[in-house]
Amino acid sequence: MSAVRPIPGAEHDGETSWQRELREQFPIVTAHPELAYLDSAATSQKPRAVLEAVQAYLTTSNANAGRGTYPWANRTTDLVEGTRERVKEFLRDPEPDRSAVHFTGGTTEGLRTVARDWLVPYLTDGDEILVPYADHRANLDPWLEARRLLAERGVDVRVRALPVQAVSGDYDHRRLGEVVGPRTRFVAATHVHHVYGGDMNVHRIRAAVGPDVPICLDAAQSVGHLPLGLDDPALDVDFVVFSGHKAMALPGTGAVWARNARGPAFRPAGWQGTPNTVGIVSLRAALDWLDAAGPDRIARWTAGLTTRLTDRLRHLDPYEVLGCPAGLAADSALPAAQRRHGIVTFRHRGIPSDDLGFVLYSHGFMVRADSLCQAGADEKDGAVRVSLHVYNTVEEIDRLLAVLASLT
Ligand code: ALA
Repeated sequence: MSAVRPIPGAEHDGETSWQRELREQFPIVTAHPELAYLDSAATSQKPRAVLEAVQAYLTTSNANAGRGTYPWANRTTDLVEGTRERVKEFLRDPEPDRSAVHFTGGTTEGLRTVARDWLVPYLTDGDEILVPYADHRANLDPWLEARRLLAERGVDVRVRALPVQAVSGDYDHRRLGEVVGPRTRFVAATHVHHVYGGDMNVHRIRAAVGPDVPICLDAAQSVGHLPLGLDDPALDVDFVVFSGHKAMALPGTGAVWARNARGPAFRPAGWQGTPNTVGIVSLRAALDWLDAAGPDRIARWTAGLTTRLTDRLRHLDPYEVLGCPAGLAADSALPAAQRRHGIVTFRHRGIPSDDLGFVLYSHGFMVRADSLCQAGADEKDGAVRVSLHVYNTVEEIDRLLAVLASLT
């Protein structure tokens, strides 16, 4: 593996050796130096600490949770309940005694659970909800399904689209006032866009809807990638839904955090069977690992790589970079609207995106190349997405840029 060179704007104390040490903790990454995993928005790789926590649990305490009269079962129950508290702590929950954490298989299931079990009973005839029509379809389909379920009961709910700025993909805060009204009862929003990588500035939505309307945040692309503090007034949301597997935990893990301050308390319907204990163990280990690594440093690292890739790619003629035209400098003083977190999506004007995906893999780069599950997109809208995490290096970005340049 080549030495990691400093990132412009991020060369401060030990940042590169810090990153090199973290990268060494990912066995799958270090085992394949000829490959570059650039698909962390789909799922992250797992550090050794997570793999070891799972193995330790399975070889010392494996049992079912909530049903035990013996130590392994009690330990499992404690692990599950303790991980709920760990999620609250990780999210810097200001009122952990009031809030709830429900484990899911991932963000898609979590959003659907909020829609069916909380939103449907909450809405009444004539209410309006605001939802994103250009984000991940997992953050649109559940709300449309909620409208359908309500319509079957004779309850008519209007679904309105969050307005979007044409180029950047950000929500258009200047037009939010046009869609907010006295019957607005709920907003579904995205924290970081899974195609454009931009911070979607949810504080502007709160400012537009006022203090009483519940907001549900799809945090699939932010948890594990950047600091996310619910004690920050700019993040005054009521649900945070995320996938553990994008945040270093095992596949099939995720959580819904519910503030339980606006509207009814969140109580998932139905009998909760055996939890995904191994996934929950992995989630706890992943959150410990992320906190030790430092979400702020992780965000700075990936922002530096993202800036390098974006700014150089924009000068390669056949490529069109989607979303925010400016790269994100590793500089928090930049306007929030220009923030791009670890995701760069682009098209080549002459090569279809799926072909480009295959070509890139022939050079060792694992990227996502399709319509990216974006609501409203179809295969003809395909694009190539490079998504990064702390294990990615400057050398990988430069190698990728060299291959992309050779395809002009
Ligand atoms: N939601 C994941 C992605 O955007 C799978 O790739």
